[in-house]
Amino acid sequence: MTNLTLAIPKGRVQADALRLLQRAGLRLSSESLSTRRLAVEDESGRYRLIFVKPTDVPVYVEHGVADCGIVGRDVLLEWEPDLLQPLALDIGVCRIVVAAKSEAIWNQFGMLRVATKYPRIAAKHFGARGVAVDLIELSGSVELAPVLGLADCIVDLVETGRTLKENGLSIVEVITQSSARLVVNRASYQLKTEAVGQLIRSVEQASQRRTNGD
Ligand code: PRP
Repeated sequence: MTNLTLAIPKGRVQADALRLLQRAGLRLSSESLSTRRLAVEDESGRYRLIFVKPTDVPVYVEHGVADCGIVGRDVLLEWEPDLLQPLALDIGVCRIVVAAKSEAIWNQFGMLRVATKYPRIAAKHFGARGVAVDLIELSGSVELAPVLGLADCIVDLVETGRTLKENGLSIVEVITQSSARLVVNRASYQLKTEAVGQLIRSVEQASQRRTNGD
């Protein structure tokens, strides 16, 4: 029996990802999930789950340490890893936006200062509009940058909109939508065809069931 290792993002998508995998047939004991262990096996012994930072999911899958993973489209757009993306999921739904204190960012003289965790997405977006930007790369709490005068605007994720609102920012422009994807290592797809195919099918069915409200 082939074993598959799945990389699961820690944090906001983790609980939904685990629920989806359980609906897809993985048997995960609440005991194993309630610990701080970073690698657990499902009860069938066919799947091993590893819990990693969202941006590290593609790294583990691309290197083949994990056969498959669940990761946001935002991460895939930013890091452009060489992975198969057979399935878009209905979890981790959010938008990647430009946000600022006011819409007046376009009246700026000189370079627009843009704070972000997504320098590639931001550079592409403003590059396509011919807007010169000074990218300020941060690793979190990006909303603080315009509030404290470090940047004119941010490029960041918005899910509920609460972080923007509570920090006095609003959306200037929506760059794109994002949701989680099931990703697969290219070699695993060739060498573990049956196991990977079965996982894709069962996750797809579980995802549709949820969409249909079953
Ligand atoms: C993300 C994102 C926003 C926030 C948006 O940050 O970068 O800050 O969530 O969510 P909301 O629209 O529901 O308020 P995260 O929580 O991952 O933390 P970080 O700022 O440390 O990256």
